[in-house]
Amino acid sequence: MLEGRFITLGVTGGIAAYKAADLASKLAGQGAAVHVIMTRSAGEFVRPLTFEALTGNTVNSDLFVSSPGLKMPHIDLSGQADLLVVAPATANILGKLAHGIADDLLTTTLLASTCPVLLCPAMNVHMYANKAVQENIVKLTEFGYHFVEPEVGRVACGHFGRGRLAGTGAIMRAITVLLQSPGDMKGLTVVVTAGGTREPIDPVRYISNHSSGKMGYALAEAASSRGARVILVSAPTALPQPPGVEPVPVETAREMHSAVMRYYPGADIVIKAAAVADYRCERQAADKIKKTGEKMTLELVRNPDILAELGAGKREGVTLVGFAAETSQLEKNAREKLSGKNLDLLVANDVTVPGAGFGSDTNIVKLFFAGGRVEALPEMDKLAVAHKILDAVMTVRKTNK
Ligand code: CTP
Repeated sequence: MLEGRFITLGVTGGIAAYKAADLASKLAGQGAAVHVIMTRSAGEFVRPLTFEALTGNTVNSDLFVSSPGLKMPHIDLSGQADLLVVAPATANILGKLAHGIADDLLTTTLLASTCPVLLCPAMNVHMYANKAVQENIVKLTEFGYHFVEPEVGRVACGHFGRGRLAGTGAIMRAITVLLQSPGDMKGLTVVVTAGGTREPIDPVRYISNHSSGKMGYALAEAASSRGARVILVSAPTALPQPPGVEPVPVETAREMHSAVMRYYPGADIVIKAAAVADYRCERQAADKIKKTGEKMTLELVRNPDILAELGAGKREGVTLVGFAAETSQLEKNAREKLSGKNLDLLVANDVTVPGAGFGSDTNIVKLFFAGGRVEALPEMDKLAVAHKILDAVMTVRKTNK
């Protein structure tokens, strides 16, 4: 899959440096030309020979020493690269990069690069939570660097929390997305909604649904990797922030409504993957409701239908995409929602089918186009489904021109 791609892999000095060997091996195994740059501290944890054996290429670590085939290491290793990956990325490298410091081969290569750069932080839990580190990550995200968030777990120093280098699988997935990016959504602003809204009953309880947010997050990630500016209006989920997107966290349907309306005037595409509660409690109790009789009744009132409102006042040039999670009569319900809400595209799935339901990493969807065409997709990873949906959106936009 990565045949012929030139990947520069920066390895910095953390205990997770040994895991970079697995990553280098997987990248080389998929046909990429992997050129490793190690910082001086990385050399304290792993030996260059490990990477040289796995990649077949000389490891570079000195700014002033060229290895065979490279005239100026920092210029060649940035200029020839299709992608630069730093794994693990320590707090130190993030700090240097955020402040434009270039004092060794890796930092000069990073500053000289024009290709996408993927940073995979790994460090002690408290270091990762440190305000300076978090501010540097925000700054680097704004600069356009891509991230694979560290995992939550036990780190080498014994602490538990977020800081462990993301798994090789997650890093490989991010690499594939970045290298496959067709860049066809450059200049477009996409608003994506995700997750299941929460409608409060009292200060400790709420009404919600089984939406995990995975489909919406995959769409946000895919659109961002294709060059779009992505605003992700998300109800609470357990998912890490996709690289490069602007997060707008909300809880209730009404909060989602006002967030979507705020960003709609600047949007070219709105994709409503969120599972929005159709009803909310008429009154939210100020105090926790105590149990009394055998039965209790909650009085519910309708929430605004965000997508229907957008459809009713649709601007020229805007593409509206809706979702329908159904348990029966998929085609009939899908067509009704498509025309009833004045959409360009409706993505429907039968949530009772294994591999297509809430929380699943895969999805099986049917795309219903405004013109009447229907395209059934096989079971696919949600990121692959997201790219298919975006392909369909771009086709619709071309034909509507
Ligand atoms: N939607 C919305 N605002 C709502 C409800 C739904 O924007 N208040 C959007 C969803 O994000 C999704 C699509 O509309 O894209 C779903 O259509 P809808 O008819 O509301 O689906 P359900 O809520 O499942 O409707 P029903 O319960 O009638 O099947």
